[in-house]
Amino acid sequence: MVVEFGSGTGVFTEKILEKVSEDASAIALEVNPAFVKETRRRCPQATVIHDSAVNTARHLKSAGVERCDRIICGLPWACFSQSLQDQLLDTVQEVLTPGGKFLTFAYLHGLLLPSGRRFRKCLSSRFEKIVETPIIWKNLPPAFVYCAER
Ligand SMILES: C[S@@+](CC[C@H](N)C(=O)[O-])C[C@H]1O[C@@H](n2cnc3c(N)ncnc32)[C@H](O)[C@@H]1O
Repeated sequence: MVVEFGSGTGVFTEKILEKVSEDASAIALEVNPAFVKETRRRCPQATVIHDSAVNTARHLKSAGVERCDRIICGLPWACFSQSLQDQLLDTVQEVLTPGGKFLTFAYLHGLLLPSGRRFRKCLSSRFEKIVETPIIWKNLPPAFVYCAER
């Protein structure tokens, strides 16, 4: 079971659906109705739920499972308050199966912001293992991915 947080325009959703095996399931949660529509337009086969990622546990239960194996996340962490960062990371810890992976991208310039640094610190305090990919300089703005493992 793969869960995507914040599918936006659906560019990650499209790649996720291309890459998951046939026996895998995938759902995406998105709060903005215009982006829900856009993801569904780009990926008509995707299950896109119009709701906050904070409510993932409820939607997994509706799909008949308690936990997921991967969370792939496009949320703008550096824009979030501490309380929303904490709520979302609580959700990640609640629903991610042991051995599961949480993958989330960040913009390099986000590390200049206190909220971006706070997010990095929170992640380190909650996960046993975190790998940061090299910075992708060709991305505008440059970005990297945190790969956190339970
Ligand atoms: C950086 S954008 C989208 C990234 C996406 N991969 C793309 O390339 O279009 C982040 C998305 O997260 C959504 N979002 C923000 N807070 C959310 C939440 N609590 N739950 C689910 N989606 C959320 C926003 O509406 C936005 O579409």
